[in-house]
Amino acid sequence: MDVCEIKKDIYWVGAVDWNIRDFHGYSTEKGTSYNAYLIKDEKIALFDTVKKEVKGDLIHHLRRTIDPEKIDYIIVNHVEMDHSGCLPEMIDLIKPEKVFCSPMGHKALLDHFHREDWPYEVVKTGDTISLGKRTVRFIETKMLHWPDSMFSYIPEEKLLISSDAFGQHWATSERFDDQVDAAELMAHAAKYYANILLIFSPVVQKLLESVREMGLAIDMIAPDHGLIWRGGPEKILAAYDRWSRQETADKAVILYDTMWHSTEKMAKAIYSALLDSGIDTVKLMHVRKNHRSDIMAEVLDAKAVVLGSPTLNNNIMPAMADILTYMKGLRPRDKIGAAFGSFGWSGESATHLTEMMQAMHFTVVGEPIKIKNVPTHETLAACVELGKTIAKAMKG
Ligand code: FEO
Repeated sequence: MDVCEIKKDIYWVGAVDWNIRDFHGYSTEKGTSYNAYLIKDEKIALFDTVKKEVKGDLIHHLRRTIDPEKIDYIIVNHVEMDHSGCLPEMIDLIKPEKVFCSPMGHKALLDHFHREDWPYEVVKTGDTISLGKRTVRFIETKMLHWPDSMFSYIPEEKLLISSDAFGQHWATSERFDDQVDAAELMAHAAKYYANILLIFSPVVQKLLESVREMGLAIDMIAPDHGLIWRGGPEKILAAYDRWSRQETADKAVILYDTMWHSTEKMAKAIYSALLDSGIDTVKLMHVRKNHRSDIMAEVLDAKAVVLGSPTLNNNIMPAMADILTYMKGLRPRDKIGAAFGSFGWSGESATHLTEMMQAMHFTVVGEPIKIKNVPTHETLAACVELGKTIAKAMKG
């Protein structure tokens, strides 16, 4: 049955979007899901809805569980359109007694749907409502990742409905973390963190601390995307702690573009030197052959990010500008950086790359390496030296 009872009388009723490949610029090569949850108690509550295009799936799943008109409350944990796009139609269908949202959620709902007449009930951190046997306690999670975001915690069930936090973009028929490959699951969760939450890492740290202080007993975390964490939610909590502290591994990522393979030869010389210097993991990523969101997933735990671009029109290659603009916005911290690039006549690219890394507060090591036209074994020696310098800084 595609509706899933995740705890007694608590159901996953969301939609799986198998074929989405671009989620506002994030590459969802394995699709995603928009999770919505239904609690049947004396009061019946629906937590979030789904993207407008898949509202039929939500309605189908609700009808397999309950007559939608019997739902009393809609709880809007997050207003972004992938969770609220079909809210107007759902409110028309359900005619809820109340629509719960955070104070910023109320503003966001008005800004998105322009409906003053909905039965809003604004709740803040610590507010609770009773569903009968169960309580819902609200926790505002401002800027995780929108100002309106909030968690709903059900203490009697040790269940945290966590909105976007702890999610993954991965379409599956399975609903729980212990039903899928653990390494693939963590890779999707890391990519999601790197592309959506990295910028808010200081807020994540504060939230984890306040959740610890609140002493919430949690045995299941149900996010709004991907798999539900029931096989030890401490695994994903520990990962969020590591990622939000921007903990790094002994890993370097070399990002490069190339026109006639000269900058690529330089990248490979640096790659070899890093491995020869004992660096555990080195990723060589052509920026026109790897999606920016996959690149960020690798940057997340890299200690060094090395950038190479030929000079084009006195500047860097456009795909490199794309990933660096995106990366800067996500605010990776404490990276070691270095720059290189080939050129035909003017050779500004490596200097531009260095300036862009400085703007991101990277610790730039070595001088930018510039090689005219095609490198030789002899001129590549400068790249080998740069690789050794980067490795030394990483070990230091
Ligand atoms: Fe999944 Fe911020 O929406």
